Parts: sequence; C-alpha cells; structure tokens
Amino acid sequence: MKLGFIGTGALSSAIVTGLKSLPGEQTAVVVSPRNEAVAADLAARFADVFIAADNQAVLDQCDTVMLAVRPQIAREVLRELRFRKDHHVVSLIATVSREEIAALVWPATHVSKALPMPMIARLQGSTIICPPDPIVAAFFARLGGVIEVEGQSEFDALTVVTATYASYFKYLDTIHSWVRSQGVSNDKARDYITSIYKALANAPDTAPDEGFMHLSQDYATRGGINEQVLRELTERGLFDTFAESLGRVHRRIAGT
Ligand SMILES: NC(=O)c1ccc[n+]([C@@H]2O[C@H](COP(=O)([O-])OP(=O)(O)OC[C@H]3O[C@@H](n4cnc5c(N)ncnc54)[C@H](OP(=O)(O)O)[C@@H]3O)[C@@H](O)[C@H]2O)c1
Repeated sequence: MKLGFIGTGALSSAIVTGLKSLPGEQTAVVVSPRNEAVAADLAARFADVFIAADNQAVLDQCDTVMLAVRPQIAREVLRELRFRKDHHVVSLIATVSREEIAALVWPATHVSKALPMPMIARLQGSTIICPPDPIVAAFFARLGGVIEVEGQSEFDALTVVTATYASYFKYLDTIHSWVRSQGVSNDKARDYITSIYKALANAPDTAPDEGFMHLSQDYATRGGINEQVLRELTERGLFDTFAESLGRVHRRIAGT
C-alpha cells in the first residue's frame, strides 16, 4: 500500500502516528502540504513520511487515499482533483455521505467511509468503516480495532456514540469537584477517580456475554449507595434526557 492523505490535520496526524508506532511498519505515506506545521512534524518524526507538492501529487503517488479535510471545503477541494480508477478512497469526512464522495472522486469506484478517533494515535478505539472492505478493515484493525457496518443508517447510529465524550468527562468532573469540595486534594481525587474508572472500563471485557444493564445491576446492591445514586438520577429523568439528546444528535447526523 502507498498511502496518501488529503488534509494533514489532527486526524491524519493521529492515524500516521498510530500506524508508525506498529513494530516493523514500513508503509510509505505521502501527506498533503497543509497544514504545513503538521506535515513537517510528521515528516521529521518518521523516515518514510513524505510531503507532496500539492494535493494532486498525493493522488499521483498513492494507491490508497484518505480524505481528511474539513467538511466545509471538501467539495471544493475534491472537484479540483483527478482521481484514477484504481484509487482506493477512504473518506474520513464525517458529514459528507459516501454517495456524494463517490460522485466527487469518479472514476475511482472503490470508496469507503471510515470514522477513526484521535486516540488511534495510541492504537486505541475502534474505527467504524462502511461498507465492509477487507483492505480498509485490515488497515484499521491494527490501529485499535475495526467495526464494519453494511449501511449508512448503522454508520450514523454508531456515530452518535462519538457525541458523548464531553458529557462523560463532565460526569467525571462532577465527581471530582464534589470530592474536592470535601477537602480532598486535587491530585488524590483525580488519581482515585482515574484508577477506578479505568477498572470499570475493563468490566465489559470480563463479562463479554452480559449487557451494560447487567453490569449496572451487579453494582447496584439492593439498599446500597450505588442503587441510591442510580435511582435518584433515574427518577429525575437524567437518563431519559440523555437518550432524547442522542436522538436529536442522530437526526442532525442523518439529516432527517
Ligand atoms: N478530529 C476528529 O476527532 C475527527 C473525528 C472523526 C472525523 N473527523 C473528520 O476528519 C476530517 C479532518 O478533521 P481534523 O480534526 O483532522 O481537522 P483539521 O485538524 O482541521 O485538519 C484538516 C486539515 O485540512 C487542511 N486543509 C485546509 N485546506 C486544505 C486544502 N485545500 N487542501 C488540503 N488540505 C487542506 C488544513 O490545513 P490548515 O490548518 O492549513 O487550514 C488542516 O490541516 C474532518 O472532515 C472531520 O469531519 C475528525
């Protein structure tokens, strides 16, 4: 594979960093010159990462091309480029459909959408790809895992998961702030919460056949303090409000 990136920003940098952290990894990578600083940083850190003269030069030197410009400029950027029939195009552009990308990159017909996350730099977090594709799946499988989906509706529903990170950290911050208000030092509170939530994040792996609610009930001992918090938050409609928010995000993503 000769891999190219159109748009060298945060996500491209994370993918290249993850890829090049794999032992013995020698895939040649060509990045577009923008962003200049990000491209220069990648080329300085990795011997087999090269900066192309422009976007077209990326296409001309590669067989597999990841599209990683922002959605607002994607159409304008892609319309100026000449793709080849044999190009393998992987669009990372979150809010432009596979069908629209396919029309923009014709005559290339091998077109996938992928949704990697920045933690791919540390080989963590699965990438969703659509449609299933053995080459794209094998690429992302090595970089933290891959979930292949058949159609846009499944892709859109899974994409909603990525809208919940900020709330997750707000949840941890609420615990942290409360513990600190009781006179516990910042670091001690942070270290304890981090260590406990890392352990909780492993719980689904220890019970792979159980749903999340089963794990919740495991911790919610009758009459205990976990049951109390769960009951009080449920009674106040916190989880219903959360689910309604996911629905609104989904309508935004799916454009319905
Ligand atoms: N970051 C994420 O967590 C994430 C997750 C999933 C999907 N995505 C998708 O991935 C894509 C990239 O996101 P990002 O976070 O990496 O954005 P980003 O950091 O803004 O990177 C986009 C890059 O495109 C460059 N660019 C601007 N105009 C260009 C042109 N005409 N030709 C080539 N490159 C050009 C920008 O350079 P300048 O800085 O010089 O303008 C910038 O470095 C987006 O479509 C986004 O929807 C991102």
